[in-house]
Amino acid sequence: MDHDLDAPSLWVRRWAALISGAAGGAVLDLACGRGRHARHLAALGYAVTAVDRDAGALASLEGVRGVHTLCADLEAGSWPLAQRRFAGIVVTHYLHRPLFPRLLEALDTGGVLIYETFARGNEDYGRPSNPDYLLRPGELLEAFGSLLTVVGFEQGRVNVPKQAVVQRLCAVSALAAGDVVLDAPASG
Ligand SMILES: C[S@@+](CC[C@H](N)C(=O)[O-])C[C@H]1O[C@@H](n2cnc3c(N)ncnc32)[C@H](O)[C@@H]1O
Repeated sequence: MDHDLDAPSLWVRRWAALISGAAGGAVLDLACGRGRHARHLAALGYAVTAVDRDAGALASLEGVRGVHTLCADLEAGSWPLAQRRFAGIVVTHYLHRPLFPRLLEALDTGGVLIYETFARGNEDYGRPSNPDYLLRPGELLEAFGSLLTVVGFEQGRVNVPKQAVVQRLCAVSALAAGDVVLDAPASG
C-alpha cells in the first residue's frame, strides 16, 4: 500500500491539540520543507512561522492562510528567531543538535515541543544513514527531559509511511506535570 509522505505525521497530529491558544497561538515549524505540518497547524487555527533554507519548498506555502514563511539557513549565521517565543515548536525529519538550546529558549511557558526524527538503526532502511543525522537511543529525552515535562516519548521501528527507525518526543515547558492537561480534544 502507498502512504502519503506529504501527509502530516501522526505524532504531530496526536500532540498538536496540546498547544494552547489554538486561535492565533504562535507555532514554529522548523525546517518545514514543503510545510506539511505548517499547513496542518494553520488549519487548526495557529499562527505558523515556517522556516527553511529552501526557497523553492517555501514557495509552495505562498498564500496559505495562517502561515508566514521565513527563508533562513539555520546552521549558519545567527539564530533568525531571537526574541520570538512560541506556544508550540514542531521539528520533524531534521536534526542539528546545536539548535537544541535555541528551541528551549524559543518555547513560551506552557509551550509544547513536538519532535520526531530518524534514529540509529535507520541506516538499515535507507537515508539518512549518516550518524550525524540519527538520534542516539534516548537522545531527545536526554536533551529535553530534565528541562521540560515529557508527556510522550517513543523510539523504535515504524513501517508507515515507510520503514524507518525513529524517535519522537512531546514535552511541555510547564512548572509541573499537573499543569499539563492531557485530555485536550484530538486534532484532525
Ligand atoms: C527531510 S526535510 C523535512 C521537512 C519537514 N520538516 C517534513 O518533515 O516534512 C528536511 C528539511 O530541512 C531543511 N534544512 C536542511 N538544512 C537546513 C538548514 N541549514 N537551514 C534551514 N533548513 C534546512 C531542508 O531544506 C528540508 O526542507
